[in-house]
Amino acid sequence: MIKKNQTLGEFIIENQKYFEYSTGELAKLLNSIRLAAKVVNHEVNKAGLVDILGTAGATNIQGEAQQKLDVYANEKFIRMLTNREIVCGIASEENDDFITIEGQHKDNKNKYVVLIDPLDGSSNIDVNVSVGTIFSIYRRITPVGTPVEMSDFLQPGNQQIAAGYIVYGTSTMLVYTTGYGVYGFTLNPPIGTYYLSHPKMRFPEKGHIYSINEGNYLQFPQGVKDYIKYCQAEEDDRPYTSRYIGSLVSDMHRNILKGGIYIYPQSSKYKNGKLRLLYECNPMAFIAEQAGGKASDGYRRILDIQPEHLHQRIPFFCGNKEMVERAEAFMRNADAPK
Ligand code: AHG
Ligand code: MN
Ligand code: MN
Repeated sequence: MIKKNQTLGEFIIENQKYFEYSTGELAKLLNSIRLAAKVVNHEVNKAGLVDILGTAGATNIQGEAQQKLDVYANEKFIRMLTNREIVCGIASEENDDFITIEGQHKDNKNKYVVLIDPLDGSSNIDVNVSVGTIFSIYRRITPVGTPVEMSDFLQPGNQQIAAGYIVYGTSTMLVYTTGYGVYGFTLNPPIGTYYLSHPKMRFPEKGHIYSINEGNYLQFPQGVKDYIKYCQAEEDDRPYTSRYIGSLVSDMHRNILKGGIYIYPQSSKYKNGKLRLLYECNPMAFIAEQAGGKASDGYRRILDIQPEHLHQRIPFFCGNKEMVERAEAFMRNADAPK
C-alpha cells in the first residue's frame, strides 16, 4: 500500500515483501546509499561557495579529468557501503579495478556487489547545473565468504536486484526500483528525511522530447541521423522538443516524468558510444523498463547484454517504449541493403 508522506525508511519496511531476498539487508544497503547521498548533496550545494571547484589533478581510467567532487563522492559512497557488512565488492567509474570488501567478521556473509557512477554529469558542477549518482546492485555469484571475483561484476543487467539514481537538482531526489515499479523520494533538507513524492513512476504514454548531443551529428550513424530528422519533421505531433542537459541522470529523470528518448549513439569518434554499460546504462535500463519504457543499444535489449569489461561502453537508446522502437527501426532500415 502506498501512503502519502511516507518516509523512505517506512516505505522500505512496509514493502518488504517486494524484495525477494533479506529485507534487512536491502534496508541496510539503501540506508548507506541515502546517507552518502545526503553528505554528497550537502557538498554539491556548497560547490559554488568553497574552493572545491576544478579538477583534482588525476584522470580516471577513461582518460577524463576528475572533478574534485567526483573524488569526494566516490570516497563517501565507498566508505558508507563498506561500513555495513552487507556489501562484498564495489566497482566505481572512478576506480580502475573493483574493490574487495572482506567484512569484519571472519564468517562474513556479505552477499551484494554494488556498481556506481558516484557523480554523473560532473562537468555541470562549475555552472550550477544538476548532477547525479547512479547505482546498480547484484547478488554475488561466487561463494559467500570468499573474495569477490570479476564474474560477480560482469553479470548481465537482467540479474540486477535493485538500481537507482539520485538527482541533486532544484531538490534532491532518490529514485529506485527492486523490480516492482519505480519510486521517487524527495529530500527535505532541514530534517534530512526523504519522503515518497513520486509513487509508481511511469513514462507518459506518448513522448515528445528527444535528448542527444546534436553537436556530434555528422559523426552519427545514418539510422540516428534519420531518426533525428523524423523527430524534427512537421508531421502529426512533431516536431518534438530537443532537450539535452549533458547529465544522464537529469536527462533521464526529466524524460521519465515528461516523456522522451535519450540517445548516446556510437559515432565515428566513439565506436561504442560514451556511456558505461555497468554503472550508467544497466541501472538506467532497469529503471526505464520498470517505468514502462525501453532501453536498447539500437539493436539489442541492454539488460540482456553479457558484459565483458568493468568499464565497457555501449550505445544507449532509452526512454518511451514507442520512441525507442522507432529509433531501432531507423537503425535497421539504414543498415538494410539498398
Ligand atoms: P560522467 O560525469 O559520470 O563522466 O558522465 C557524463 C556522461 C553523461 O552523464 C552525459 O549524459 C554524457 O556524459 C554527456 O556527454 P557529452 O558531453 O559527450 O554529450
Ligand atoms: Mn556518468
Ligand atoms: Mn561520473
